[in-house]
Amino acid sequence: MTSEPDPAPTADETPSNSAEVRARVGRARRALGDPRAAVNLRWLRALSGARVPEILGVLGELDELVPMEEEIRRRHLAGGRTSYAHFSAPFEIYALVRLRRPEHVVETGVSSGVSSAHILRALEKNRSGRLYSVDLPTRQRGPVLAPDESPVAIPPGLSSGWAVPFRSPRWEVRIADSATEVPRLAAELPSVEMFLHDDLHTPERLALELAALRPKFAPGAIVLADNTAWTGTAFPEFARSVRAHVYARGTSDLVGCRLPRRLAPPASGDDRPGPA
Ligand SMILES: C[S@@+](CC[C@H](N)C(=O)[O-])C[C@H]1O[C@@H](n2cnc3c(N)ncnc32)[C@H](O)[C@@H]1O
Repeated sequence: MTSEPDPAPTADETPSNSAEVRARVGRARRALGDPRAAVNLRWLRALSGARVPEILGVLGELDELVPMEEEIRRRHLAGGRTSYAHFSAPFEIYALVRLRRPEHVVETGVSSGVSSAHILRALEKNRSGRLYSVDLPTRQRGPVLAPDESPVAIPPGLSSGWAVPFRSPRWEVRIADSATEVPRLAAELPSVEMFLHDDLHTPERLALELAALRPKFAPGAIVLADNTAWTGTAFPEFARSVRAHVYARGTSDLVGCRLPRRLAPPASGDDRPGPA
């Protein structure tokens, strides 16, 4: 799935013992300031299909992310958030992108950009691939988030991805409703090797996004959905239709599946988006 080989890793980048990797995950988690961002190795193994040494190798890279995590945290605090980290698995998504080396990643729901930043850093490390993000932001009233406001709201003067501390030529952000933009993206892209749903968590919206992208999902694509406690049977029905197993991240409702190498054609009517 990639066009360029990875540069030869140095000994420092590839710790072989899990204690050292755990220490690196801990440092990155503390830098981001999100205790939920622990790494679930079992979930990573199931989704990626990679062997443990390979997974430890990419997790060992998390030390390189510490300055970025500190800056994301600083920006969140400056934006009036003491504990923002909506996507709870930033290090797993980094590892999945490193392990699977997708060429086209699609995500719905950007907000401050925690998931986007980690996907992009992994694509940069892969030296291959692009991220297409769709977001329809809501606006925060003042410089500090009020108690009655959603923490996904965007602080004044900023835009979707406002906490991402770098620019990337690999990133295309589309400010639009996912109901119209995901089908448009699906029509434009040659294939999709990874998808993260993290926007409007309704069964209809998740089903629409999955149905729109399904014809473009590559064999072995990784498909993830957060907050599936709110999306009913949309994800398991999709997984069943492509004959993929659903893996939950521990006891949370962040789930994912890896599509089979040979994809079954959609059943008649299966690939049409439903109502928003
Ligand atoms: C939970 S946040 C995303 C968090 C992000 N993935 C992260 O890791 O920081 C959900 C985002 O989806 C956006 N959203 C809600 N409804 C949407 C829609 N219909 N189309 C596109 N984006 C939407 C929200 O405004 C918000 O920015």
